[in-house]
Amino acid sequence: MKRSAFTLLAGLLFAGAPHAQPTEEVPFITSPDNVTLEMLGLARVGPSDHVIDLGSGDGRIVITAARRFGASGLGVEIVPDLVQQSQRNAREAGVADRVAFREQDLFRTDLAPATVITMYLLPEVNLQLRPALLALKPGTRVVSHDWDMGDWKPDRTTVVPVPDKKVGLEKSSKVHLWVVPARVDGLWCAPPLLGGGSLEFTQSFQQVQGRLARRGRVREGTGRLDGTLLHLETTGDRAMLLEVAGDTLRLADTSQPLPAGTVLFTRARSGSC
Ligand SMILES: C[S@@+](CC[C@H](N)C(=O)[O-])C[C@H]1O[C@@H](n2cnc3c(N)ncnc32)[C@H](O)[C@@H]1O
Repeated sequence: MKRSAFTLLAGLLFAGAPHAQPTEEVPFITSPDNVTLEMLGLARVGPSDHVIDLGSGDGRIVITAARRFGASGLGVEIVPDLVQQSQRNAREAGVADRVAFREQDLFRTDLAPATVITMYLLPEVNLQLRPALLALKPGTRVVSHDWDMGDWKPDRTTVVPVPDKKVGLEKSSKVHLWVVPARVDGLWCAPPLLGGGSLEFTQSFQQVQGRLARRGRVREGTGRLDGTLLHLETTGDRAMLLEVAGDTLRLADTSQPLPAGTVLFTRARSGSC
């Protein structure tokens, strides 16, 4: 991170904010309650989720995830006083058995246990985190208050009114959701029983371009990944829903002649099928 540009940006964005406790990197500004609820709602947080808030401030996102939605959670925060305050807040909210707060650098945090990552950081920090987020288990949801992730476009964005917002000019906050896409780029082979052929993908985040070669014919296709689900359309063919399950692509819709779950392609082990 270019710290000087970063510090300048932080100063411009958060100047004059109440309760601001600027740290070396991202200052402490809380997400208002309606934004917190929108973040957790957009990610559809539920009792089976484990929410990790990166830079957890006073703990409100993780505590709300546990209290309102039954999730478990972890908040990581570099300001010791905020960690202690979060632990007190969790006890008062009656969720101390389901949430933990650690004094820890968010860049040194193991993100793998999360099913949902929440963050209210800064654009450059989001971009620095992006490779680690994209490497998470496909289907993991990532929610960011206000800041996006560059050319990894959000799957959904909503806008929440924040009439007393003290940062920036807008009296609203954006909430962005990304679902970590499965990785499908490369060559996939159809089993001989299904007539053979190959499917080659070029992937850019959730978007894929496909090239289906079968019995001497080639069809181009486009697709979109929603976690492990791939919505694929090829020219002259019906749209198809596939599920990426490890090294297989399985039929996921029931409107096809073959039963759902049928393995249509397996990842090529070499450069050809
Ligand atoms: C804008 S506040 C957001 C607080 C909370 N997530 C919320 O939305 O209400 C960002 C927080 O990140 C913390 N922070 C900044 N850099 C950090 C780092 N490298 N590791 C962990 N926490 C960090 C700050 O101390 C601050 O409390």
